[in-house]
Amino acid sequence: MPTLISGQGKLIQCGEILKQAQSKQVFIVTDKTLVSLGIVQQLIDSLTKEQKKLNYTIFDDVTPDPTTSIIELGVSQFKLNNCDSIITLGGGSVMDCGKAIAACAVKNKKIKALSGLFKVRKKLPTFIAIPTTAGTGSEATLVAVVTDPVKKQKFTVIDPCLVPHYAIIDPLLMIGLPAKITAETGIDALTHAVESYIGLHSTEQSKSYCFDAIKRIFTYLPQAYQDGKDLTARTEMSLASYYAGVAFTRTSIGYVHAIAHQLGGYYHIPHGLANAVLLPHILQFSFDDAFQQYAEMAYHAGIANQNDNEKIAAEKFIEAVKALNVTLNIQKSFPELKKEAISVLAKRAIHEANCEYPVPKQMTIKECEAILIKLLA
Ligand SMILES: NC(=O)c1ccc[n+]([C@@H]2O[C@H](COP(=O)([O-])OP(=O)(O)OC[C@H]3O[C@@H](n4cnc5c(N)ncnc54)[C@H](O)[C@@H]3O)[C@@H](O)[C@H]2O)c1
Ligand SMILES: [Fe+2]
Repeated sequence: MPTLISGQGKLIQCGEILKQAQSKQVFIVTDKTLVSLGIVQQLIDSLTKEQKKLNYTIFDDVTPDPTTSIIELGVSQFKLNNCDSIITLGGGSVMDCGKAIAACAVKNKKIKALSGLFKVRKKLPTFIAIPTTAGTGSEATLVAVVTDPVKKQKFTVIDPCLVPHYAIIDPLLMIGLPAKITAETGIDALTHAVESYIGLHSTEQSKSYCFDAIKRIFTYLPQAYQDGKDLTARTEMSLASYYAGVAFTRTSIGYVHAIAHQLGGYYHIPHGLANAVLLPHILQFSFDDAFQQYAEMAYHAGIANQNDNEKIAAEKFIEAVKALNVTLNIQKSFPELKKEAISVLAKRAIHEANCEYPVPKQMTIKECEAILIKLLA
């Protein structure tokens, strides 16, 4: 787990961490939106205040769903400037891009060569992750998701070395996050908690992180969506995202993600949005094998009461997810999705899941196709 530093204004602690690490040249990975919002300047002000001699390089070329070429560009900048530490300030795309750059730099390899499990196995330079969305939990996880633009497919680099050394969670950085992105990223966090909870690798400890995240999300995501300046809601959502990340990095994810990754790689559909649309469908698909776990989540989040039997409680859980989507104005289909692409997307999704995910019920390619057909606009 990273060292967690959380609370309003905690961004300022970056300088002290880098001072202790005796960093001379920090590589700041971010994107142009965060530069234009002044958030990157806040970071620089706090860094230079703390350590007059600290030099920095800003890499703000990250775009949503970072590609292999953006990562290569970042690696060359990192090396050219002799950087010895890294700060990622942004959403999951920025954090994953930073992880990938750091891994390539220490291994002296291209990111494609690090695809899969345990290919890094080398300590990264001091790595501070500062999320500005409350969704991916990447600040707590061992994975970086990368897009191969030629294949139009995402792939993952998974290694415990990719867990950031520090996670600084400062809800003040999220108050300008647009409502739509707040909603979609928030459901990404919910999906992490749910897929972790129902997965076959879940443990008592991981379940307790999931309960924590699920309860916070049902309570606070509508509030954060309606009023982005509500700092209580932003704080609760940022912690929910972190704990959902802590849970799924131990237990893995499931079919919602396996399919969402294909929609992201192929059509560039935002990750959280893809999860949000898919989640009720996958919950329905796994119902017979996982309804007891749905019921447990429903009881714990106050969605069902102990008088409801397990099946009723489980149904209430799915209804609550659907209702949350309605509250957040989440669409029900994907206008980009074309019938001709469904067979390749389903094949890729089932391949990804079968290789990696401990799902409660196995899905065939045909069953996956049937779900995708329902999502045609
Ligand atoms: N590594 C992991 O554990 C993990 C887990 C889930 C998802 N992911 C990956 O993360 C990526 C998605 O990340 P995301 O959902 O955080 O979105 P994102 O990082 O792609 O950001 C979405 C948009 O929000 C903007 N933004 C971010 N913070 C903002 C702020 N505070 N104010 C205003 N705008 C802001 C960004 O500029 C961007 O345009 C996907 O590629 C997904 O596959 C990784
Ligand atoms: Fe996710």
